[in-house]
Amino acid sequence: MKIEILQTAAQVNAKAAWHFIRRAAFDGVLTGVATGDTTRAVYALVAALYETAPFDTSKIRICALDDYAGIEGDHPASCSARIRAQLQVPLHLRSEQLILPEAFPGTPDAVAQAYEERLTSLGGIQTQLLGIGADAHLGFCRPGTPFCSPAHAVQLPEDTRQMLHRKYTLEIKKLPRCGVTLGLKSIMQIPELLVIATGTAKARAVYDSLHHAPDERIPASILQLHPNVTWLLDAEAASLL
Ligand code: GLP
Repeated sequence: MKIEILQTAAQVNAKAAWHFIRRAAFDGVLTGVATGDTTRAVYALVAALYETAPFDTSKIRICALDDYAGIEGDHPASCSARIRAQLQVPLHLRSEQLILPEAFPGTPDAVAQAYEERLTSLGGIQTQLLGIGADAHLGFCRPGTPFCSPAHAVQLPEDTRQMLHRKYTLEIKKLPRCGVTLGLKSIMQIPELLVIATGTAKARAVYDSLHHAPDERIPASILQLHPNVTWLLDAEAASLL
């Protein structure tokens, strides 16, 4: 496990953006992308770098870490829509370059299974960008998620639904109740992980994930057992270490 502490969030974003460009664009490996405020800043920088000095994007293949179920695919809250807006559009990616759960029909459970099978048939995700929740969740793997979980459907907790209500002014009755996420086992099978955390709101989760013995109450603590994970932190996120 590698822990890199940089002074500012801007430095963290730059390092993560270059990781994405190197692995996804130059090496052309299947790259998993988290959505959230942390990675949004990283993708904005990738887009800005592309705008300034366009690089070859033809080898890029990206896939989602998680998404809501029962939300319109073009709704801005949907993780797929955010990946399209933050990466596909600015980098001019063809739709075949995106592998998203929304492409699979059926119940959330069936979607999760079909999505993981598709990723496996493509040789599996080779590198994954991860954000971390303030409760140390990864994707939609909240505290208590079994470490052995494959991709699966989840009931969304009330705080997530309220966040969607506030952030995207979604009507309460239209809020999704379920999500689909890679599981902790799925994440552990990816050969290279980059966890990005910035800001004081993540400091406790970072500390617990790195210093508490691996425990299902702290989902990201499982990463201590991963052979090739880098934690990329700004000074605030690292402030309790
Ligand atoms: C969200 C998402 C994750 C994201 C994480 C951190 O709930 N499901 O994909 O990485 O939590 O989000 P943020 O970067 O907005 O803090």
